Amino acid sequence: MLRRMDNRSAERPYVICSCAMSVDGRIDDCSDRRLMLSGPADLDRVDEVRAGCDAILVGAGTVRRDDPRLAVRSEVRRAARVAAGLEPTPRKVVLCGSGTLDPAARLFDTDPVDVLVYTSGDRPAGDRPGRRDGSRTVMVELPALAGRAGLIDVAAVLDDLARRGVRRLLVEGGTSVHTAFLTAGLVDELHLAVAPLFVGEADAPAFVGPGRFPRDARARMRLAEVRQLDDVVLARYLIHPATTR
Ligand SMILES: NC(=O)c1ccc[n+]([C@@H]2O[C@H](COP(=O)([O-])OP(=O)(O)OC[C@H]3O[C@@H](n4cnc5c(N)ncnc54)[C@H](OP(=O)(O)O)[C@@H]3O)[C@@H](O)[C@H]2O)c1
Repeated sequence: MLRRMDNRSAERPYVICSCAMSVDGRIDDCSDRRLMLSGPADLDRVDEVRAGCDAILVGAGTVRRDDPRLAVRSEVRRAARVAAGLEPTPRKVVLCGSGTLDPAARLFDTDPVDVLVYTSGDRPAGDRPGRRDGSRTVMVELPALAGRAGLIDVAAVLDDLARRGVRRLLVEGGTSVHTAFLTAGLVDELHLAVAPLFVGEADAPAFVGPGRFPRDARARMRLAEVRQLDDVVLARYLIHPATTR
């Protein structure tokens, strides 16, 4: 008998997890500099995926470490979105349980699109992430998970995004965010770009941390595509419909 093995409701957005990693599974190193894993062709592919989504989500750790703009770069893609009646770039979403974000972070100062900052209800009163004039910051407070101070149920985040009209969500990391979505069985598609290098540091961030993943040796993901992009290999996996025997 087939049974559902995920927590995805029909109303929730279609979720794509996207990550660039070394061959030893690291998504960054321990240096002060940002580690470049992808090349131009893969970055352009990610730009295309971004342009096809309604929102891009990262964790506050990625904002603090990488300071990404989280914006569609290609002018052609931006113009195509505007021609379709959309903002030039998708809404930006940050999981930030502590409520501590640098107001000078670059994601606040580029396009005049919503930046949705999800915080937990148990953080200190008055502690609010900053905003810049370029963006429209929307604070969304959700209850903290029982016994997990500062952590929000990512399923509740998806439900809230669905209510705000997000149908297709790109999750770009980092480790704790990928782990949360994948262990919760809330990811439909996984894009892994593997760069031909080793990081080799025990403390370097891995793609995911330990956890119980619905897709394991008994329920493998479906490999949908393998593509060479310069010296990077993209593997695209489909996770849903998640059924097992
Ligand atoms: N290679 C790649 O494709 C790629 C992409 C992105 C990131 N990265 C790397 O990933 C590393 C960062 O990973 P990380 O695990 O340290 O940070 P992260 O996952 O980006 O963010 C972790 C933070 O997000 C917030 N958060 C996460 N889950 C939450 C939840 N369920 N509820 C409420 N808040 C939640 C918390 O913020 P608070 O601290 O505010 O509570 C937490 O400390 C960096 O080294 C970065 O370079 C690599």
